[in-house]
Amino acid sequence: APAAKAAGPTAGVHVELRAVRGRASLRPGNTTAVWRYEGKLLQGEAESLQAGDGYLGPTIRVRRGQRLRVEFTNDLPEPTTIHWHGLHVPDDMDGHPRHAVAPGQRFVYEFPVVNRAGTYWYHAHPHGRTGFQVYHGLAGLLLISDDEEQALSLPGGAQDVALVLQDRNFDRDNRFVYPSGGMGGGGMMGRGMMGRDGTGSGMGGGMARMMGVLGEKILVNGRQLPSLGVERRPYRLRLVNGSNTRSYKLAWSDGSPLTVLATDGGLLAASQERPYVMLGPAERVEVWVDFARWPASGELALHSLEFDPGMSMGGLALPDGARFPVLAFDLRSAGAAGAVQPPRQLSQLPAPQPGMAVNADRPKVFDLTMGMMTWGVNGRSFEMLEASSEETVKLGTHEVWEFRNEGRGAMMGMVMPHSMHIHGLQFRVLEREVSSRFAPAYRAVQAGLVDDGWKDTVLVMPGERVRVLVGFHDYPGLFIYHCHMLEHEDSGLMRNYLVKA
Ligand code: C2O
Repeated sequence: APAAKAAGPTAGVHVELRAVRGRASLRPGNTTAVWRYEGKLLQGEAESLQAGDGYLGPTIRVRRGQRLRVEFTNDLPEPTTIHWHGLHVPDDMDGHPRHAVAPGQRFVYEFPVVNRAGTYWYHAHPHGRTGFQVYHGLAGLLLISDDEEQALSLPGGAQDVALVLQDRNFDRDNRFVYPSGGMGGGGMMGRGMMGRDGTGSGMGGGMARMMGVLGEKILVNGRQLPSLGVERRPYRLRLVNGSNTRSYKLAWSDGSPLTVLATDGGLLAASQERPYVMLGPAERVEVWVDFARWPASGELALHSLEFDPGMSMGGLALPDGARFPVLAFDLRSAGAAGAVQPPRQLSQLPAPQPGMAVNADRPKVFDLTMGMMTWGVNGRSFEMLEASSEETVKLGTHEVWEFRNEGRGAMMGMVMPHSMHIHGLQFRVLEREVSSRFAPAYRAVQAGLVDDGWKDTVLVMPGERVRVLVGFHDYPGLFIYHCHMLEHEDSGLMRNYLVKA
């Protein structure tokens, strides 16, 4: 880990975060009761903490090599923790549910920032309540910069824009609608289903929640935005899927390809053109776009295209895999001169070496399974302090893990995508394999799976086996891995892994 540079105001970023109840204006009409992070900069440069919009938490900016210290206070009526999604941190700083901060209590998170430059985020992570808390607003961005990235002169300042995509449901008074707990009711088709009036009345909570919560309104940076004003010049867009369950198949409305610069763990070796990009919950992708290349009269938007998520969810106005507009861009005049290209070569990114894994020829299988009102891995749901023998690894080693999404234990062969996240590290995707039954649906998403960079979350489509190379270099201790479809996580699709020194 690089040591922090000389002492002084740039040696570290020191902030205060407070989880509070409040109200925010998310869409026309009434304000919405939210839970959110409020922040205050205690030490650092002015740009180290940028206030949130009343829903999302403040954006924290740090440089690789700095220390980040966060003095956290929980002013909510229930326990919570903060997880630093994608960051290499000691296990007691990681927001594991076993470190829940009780109402009224404080906790200090502090660690050196060793990650590469990239788009990361932080969010609540209490036991069984992550879906509820994130839905209500407990999430924010954490952007890391480093020398390699800064040498590239990518679009910066107002041309470096993060876009957090979240789908939510509101009732007529703009209150959030989120299925409550409890078992029964709802039935098989209750996947976050709302009545047409959006009240969710008559919906059984338990089953609906377990299947996931899909919202009918798309928020971008905590607002239902009609459009975003941009200048006719190159931009770096950092797209973050902050949704609870929804995956996006992102594409430009005019059919031009997306130019991908980075994934979860930072820059790719070189930019890549993709017809569309799949973004499962918690995944990030950075794209380069030159808004100067669109005709003056043209309308430009980012859309989510249709795909087949395995189960068909009748009755929901915006089912998973539906086509819908995500954000329109309002092209303003001026800007700099004509179109330029993104830098070809972005980063030193060696190809993954599966041979370095201690189990190179015998991948560990993590089968994503369903039980009675629960999800699990290899048939086991989350246990607060337990890790099985296959979930125990040795510090300083690499392993190959295989996530299997074949619907084992599922009722009526229900298979749906999962977005598998491993805490405390970045991994590499080695290979994907899909069973023939799901091959046709898979072909419609395949070109959008950007697997070549560092990842902390990987979308595992129905019928898929995804092999990843995981290195346990930084810290010993008990960490979690789970599906980032937050209702799946809250319903058991989460387990510990133990790194032994
Ligand atoms: Cu962003 Cu354990 O999750």
